[in-house]
Amino acid sequence: MNLSLQKKDKKYLWHPYTQMKDYQTRDLLIIDHAQGNYLYDEHGKRYFDTISSWWCILHGHNHPTMQEFVSRQLHRLDQVLLAGTSHEPAILLAEKLVKLTSAPLSKIFFSDNGSTACEVALKMSLQYWRHRELPAKNRFISLERGYHGDTIGTMSLGGVPEFHQEFKSILFPSFSLPSPHCYRCPMNREPGSCELECLNPLETLLAEKSEQVAAFILEPLLQAAGGMRMYPPAYLNRAAKLTKKYNIHLILDEVATGFGRTGRMFAYEHAGIVPDFLCLSKGLTGGMLAMGATVTSDKIYNAFYADYGENKTFYHGHTFTGNPLASAAALGSLQVFAEEKSLDYIQSIIPHLHQGMERFRALEWVGDVRCLGMICALELVKDKTSKEEFSFSERVGWKIYLKGLEKGLILRPMGNTVYLWLPLSTSRDEVDEIVELTYQVVADPKNIVGL
Ligand SMILES: Cc1ncc(COP(=O)(O)O)c(C=O)c1O
Repeated sequence: MNLSLQKKDKKYLWHPYTQMKDYQTRDLLIIDHAQGNYLYDEHGKRYFDTISSWWCILHGHNHPTMQEFVSRQLHRLDQVLLAGTSHEPAILLAEKLVKLTSAPLSKIFFSDNGSTACEVALKMSLQYWRHRELPAKNRFISLERGYHGDTIGTMSLGGVPEFHQEFKSILFPSFSLPSPHCYRCPMNREPGSCELECLNPLETLLAEKSEQVAAFILEPLLQAAGGMRMYPPAYLNRAAKLTKKYNIHLILDEVATGFGRTGRMFAYEHAGIVPDFLCLSKGLTGGMLAMGATVTSDKIYNAFYADYGENKTFYHGHTFTGNPLASAAALGSLQVFAEEKSLDYIQSIIPHLHQGMERFRALEWVGDVRCLGMICALELVKDKTSKEEFSFSERVGWKIYLKGLEKGLILRPMGNTVYLWLPLSTSRDEVDEIVELTYQVVADPKNIVGL
């Protein structure tokens, strides 16, 4: 063991979303290197990157095509501001992203990460309505259990109390609606037989207050950080129609779902709709470098296009906006999509994965098995009939995480939800191995607190 690195980590580092006391007597997993779908620790032990390194790795780690794109760029131009100057990788990437998304999406605004991609959409929407002489449209609608990032703006529209309640006193007011969670339906309906009654609160709100509303922001088909809650494309389709009917913007946060993870390039495609703003990050660079992008239409862009004296400029930018190396990584990732036909490839992997997950349903403490593309989640419950949850203090997820590590899996359950978020490069054999190892962890009663 590399004692000095362990000691230095504890001395100097404060890790994100981590209770540091958990590591008072325990070592952190120090990753030494990665290859393909695997991470290797300092002792050479191999771990399958079951959660794609926080949902961003697409084609496996260190993909040679992407390495080549980035290293070529490293010898040409490392960084330059994007205000008043431009560069080839950002220009070519913007062109490719416009071609990849659907009309009328036509303009790309780069930023640094998923939170900023969403912040940009919120600010653009707000400013757009001011330019259109509708300044009263200054509130947003979001969903309970929604997650859009950790900045103050995105937290104000977040609906995960565990993450957001400490900051509530400074978050701005917004309209929060029930989450369309089929397993725990807020309208007490059964999936398949419902009429999407969960959209009624949206329609009621818009009928009464749409003149105060700038936009509705949500994660399409999957509320990821809120507990891997999945909902049907029909909900998204109807919600999009309501936003049009009541003249508010639709902001789709595809930071997590974008770039193939749901089986289509973008999750909105499943619903046959196009948002006013599309927020991208994570898979944008295949997970290699940090980057965010907000995609919008000429209609929005043109409202900002004016003589300087009119002060309609969008005053937003980050030092590393459109960074050439990150842009090159994104171009490299899109090249891999084209060369490896990644989207075609996963069409046979996805049903195989979903089928493999079916075996979990029989387990006494698995309340729900839900899958979307390369993502599958298991919601663990104390009682299947009442759907009683394990309490926070029982730490079911933590036990599963530790057992997963022993088996060579990086499972990082969210509360009582164990999930797989697999790279698009996962093979059939790897799916079988991951599902089997995950089963060994989840099926063992010793790993489930409170039984
Ligand atoms: C849907 C969604 N939006 C926004 C974010 C925030 O992205 P970042 O962590 O890059 O700021 C995340 C991160 O997990 C996310 O899942």
